[in-house]
Amino acid sequence: MTQDLLAPVLARIDAGLDQSVERLVDVLRIPSISTDPKYTPDVRRAAEWMAAQLSEIGFDAAVRDAKKHPMVVGHFKGPEGAPHLLYYGHYDVQPADPYELWDSDPFEPQIVEAERGKRIVARGAVDDKGQVMTFIEAFRAWIAVHGALPIGVTVLLEGEEESGSESLEPFLNAHKDELKADACMVCDTGMWSVDQPAISYMLRGIVSTEIKITGPSRDLHSGMYGGGVINPINLLAKILGDFHDETGRIRIEGFYDDVLPVGENELKQWEGLGFDEEAFLKEVGLEVAGGEEGYSALERLWARPTLDVNGITGGYQDPGGKTVIAAEASAKITCRLVPDQEPEKIIEGLKAFVTERLPKGYSLEIVYSEGFPALRVPTDSDYLRAAQAGLRDEYDRDALLIGMGGSIPAAGSIRNILGLDSLLVGFGLEDDRVHSPNEKFEMVCFHRGIRSNAAIMARLAELAG
Ligand code: BES
Ligand code: ZN
Repeated sequence: MTQDLLAPVLARIDAGLDQSVERLVDVLRIPSISTDPKYTPDVRRAAEWMAAQLSEIGFDAAVRDAKKHPMVVGHFKGPEGAPHLLYYGHYDVQPADPYELWDSDPFEPQIVEAERGKRIVARGAVDDKGQVMTFIEAFRAWIAVHGALPIGVTVLLEGEEESGSESLEPFLNAHKDELKADACMVCDTGMWSVDQPAISYMLRGIVSTEIKITGPSRDLHSGMYGGGVINPINLLAKILGDFHDETGRIRIEGFYDDVLPVGENELKQWEGLGFDEEAFLKEVGLEVAGGEEGYSALERLWARPTLDVNGITGGYQDPGGKTVIAAEASAKITCRLVPDQEPEKIIEGLKAFVTERLPKGYSLEIVYSEGFPALRVPTDSDYLRAAQAGLRDEYDRDALLIGMGGSIPAAGSIRNILGLDSLLVGFGLEDDRVHSPNEKFEMVCFHRGIRSNAAIMARLAELAG
């Protein structure tokens, strides 16, 4: 029955695609960079924009103050007995720097013609404004055609996903009743390829920290003191280099204690996906892989923990040279975690690893540290089967179940606090340049993402709530 309702919605989506793109372009213009306080008013503006969209199409929606950046919450009551879904996404974006590497202004979205047809280039195009708009546009079309949605929907949009989600857990705890649902839909991941849909069933966790090493009581002349003292930057570089052994294994004590090996069946299944590692490297201009020896590429990307330095600071950074031995040096580090690793334990191990290597008189400061564990979602639920069926309706092939190397802390918090499993259905592609200059979202992914969300709703409506 609900399937008959879908066809006119899809026709409406197709006919209205240009306007959908205009709306997406509109919100992409707002530089809602959550990590940099300079953009705080813009982050709020993006929240207001999202809430206005939801209100315009008939949701009871509002911008809701939280500890840092606001949440957007919207409700649409479903038919009696229909399931109720919580749709999660984020309206904040990563910083756009380095600006000079963009072909156009990151907040002046461009529609560009490329190999797969048109694409939208802007910061947040795919992560995550474009993906959030795939479900909002699906709601819009469905309501326009039928006057109401076939399922109950609560939308929860966060403005801190890219900067640690500090406000999320307190907000979930404070509004447990209001956010009650049967399952959660998260639209912030990727597909296997442009015509091969996928549902992610594992996300890596993350530990983010900044370490600062301080030595001499002031910056020193590198001629007067060079050869006489230990340079904090040299020391930091040595410690950072020490983190991995020659096989790529991380040398922090206890780091692998809780890491489980991937099961035979799962490994076979991943092998069957035919991941093209050479093409994966080539797309980013590389020929040689990194990571731990003895593991396949997908294992290293989805099921092995990592440690990466994201930035190093210290000493003279302005034009020209300066003969100085700086008093301090710091590094921002992230570890990606796999199931059963505990963020606190990893942070402690990392701290101990650095401290043990400090000479007398040198000290370590942890500037900040936070973490979220990895997440696996069940693959045998009726909701997941409904999402698979909806994707099959659109793509005419079965969605693959895949892992994701990235992290979405909210999915874990929603599981722990609201008791909801997430359906991680996304429309991004490997080459979308997420977090990089010239981030883009393929028009075909945007369009079929909207259609898929409509099709998934139709399938969800067939379940009893
Ligand atoms: N959408 C990404 C997560 C993602 C990336 C999923 C690539 C699938 C493929 C998300 O917005 C993100 O980047 N999260 C951050 C979280 C961190 C700042 C706590 C991440 O993974 O770095
Ligand atoms: Zn995202």
